[in-house]
Amino acid sequence: MLQGKLVRLRAPERGDLPTFVRWFNDPEATQFLLRGPPMSLEEEEQWYSDLQKREGSVFCIDTVEGKLIGTLGITQLDWTDRRAEIGVMIGEKEYWSRGFGTEAITLLLKYMFEEMNLERVGLFCDETNLRAQRCYHKCGFVVEGKFRHHRIKGGAFTDDVMMSILRSEWDERSSD
Ligand SMILES: CC(C)(COP(=O)(O)OP(=O)(O)OC[C@H]1O[C@@H](n2cnc3c(N)ncnc32)[C@H](O)[C@@H]1OP(=O)(O)O)[C@@H](O)C(=O)NCCC(=O)NCCS
Repeated sequence: MLQGKLVRLRAPERGDLPTFVRWFNDPEATQFLLRGPPMSLEEEEQWYSDLQKREGSVFCIDTVEGKLIGTLGITQLDWTDRRAEIGVMIGEKEYWSRGFGTEAITLLLKYMFEEMNLERVGLFCDETNLRAQRCYHKCGFVVEGKFRHHRIKGGAFTDDVMMSILRSEWDERSSD
């Protein structure tokens, strides 16, 4: 478990799945996600079963009081080049813009740089998702560029922003 002042990160449990399904079927919560159509509980259970074969790549974000508010994952992990990407969602909307995302991502970055010994953590973000970009900026990510017409969203091509943080940038921030 990774413990912060506002949140802690823990492994997902089967009992979390109905909450995930509720979030991933909420159009407002998912409008900026780089993923496909709504999902069923059955699909989510299959995903959970597959997850057991992979190690430590998905975390639940709980408040310190123990309320499940979101999920955070490591993707595209490449041990040869020591890089990975992350994806994050706070599904409980009343927790948006209150610093929970920034703390959760910062805890994960600490784990990825200091325990996993990675060199680079990247992410893609919908260009219009300004809250997320602000959050990532606060965590130390910098914009690398724009992937033009990277996805189809609502029937039209849309752009994504690529952001990343390097180990040296993390070290500099954590020594402040
Ligand atoms: C993106 C997300 C993880 C960020 O977590 P969060 O807890 O809401 O973020 P934080 O409160 O730590 O930081 C958000 C910052 O953006 C600011 N913000 C909010 N709306 C904004 C907007 N429209 N434009 C610019 N900044 C905005 C907030 O004020 C805050 O900045 P501040 O602390 O300087 O005031 C969360 O909102 C979320 O999961 N949203 C839905 C799913 C999603 O978009 N996932 C990301 C996919 S790339």
